[in-house]
Amino acid sequence: MELYIDTANLDEIKEAAALGVLDGVTTNPSLIAKEKGVSYHARLKEICEVVKGPVSGEVISTEFNGMMKEASELVKIASNIVVKLPTTVDGLKACKALSDQGIKTNMTLVFQPLQALMVAKAGAFLVSPFIGRLDDVAEDGMDLIQRMRQIYDNYGFRTKILAASVRHSKHMVDCALAGADVATVPLSVIKATLNHPLTDSGLKKFVEDYKKAFPNG
Ligand code: E4P
Repeated sequence: MELYIDTANLDEIKEAAALGVLDGVTTNPSLIAKEKGVSYHARLKEICEVVKGPVSGEVISTEFNGMMKEASELVKIASNIVVKLPTTVDGLKACKALSDQGIKTNMTLVFQPLQALMVAKAGAFLVSPFIGRLDDVAEDGMDLIQRMRQIYDNYGFRTKILAASVRHSKHMVDCALAGADVATVPLSVIKATLNHPLTDSGLKKFVEDYKKAFPNG
């Protein structure tokens, strides 16, 4: 499973990149808005300078012509920009038009399997099911990933399933088991993948034993 970081914070992106396991970045308007004093396009450019894998930059327009105009500006930022579009009727049309031009898209705000089927038919590069937000409203985010996997495998769709709105390690494990192609997660979840109390206690004991046996180093 590929690993993207879900943030527009440059320090977090650099920290994750330094771990050597980062394949890409997802942003959205809310995440970039949290970064005070930066311009939308300038921040995307800075991110693309740090990470060479796919960097999703989202359009703000909700109608086709506006999305196409914004997409033409977004792709000028860097060659690894992926145009993120909402999974609506206009978004689907834009997905098809951009895919036909060889421009990569990430279809966002997917909450049910037929949205995933439609965006794959329209040629999306990535599709983003929001599992945490489904869990928040007492639906089953992981069930959506499993259904999408099955539909894509049934028909050989090559759109990558990018599990989004991932909140914790259990989500991440379940995504990997369900065959998600990518998970995009906050830095805290990336770091939590390395947590286990037996690792901590085992390491503590190794260091203590060494210091007892070799007091002079
Ligand atoms: C995905 O690309 C989105 O930016 C993100 O995963 C949304 O997550 P949230 O539900 O935690 O806002």
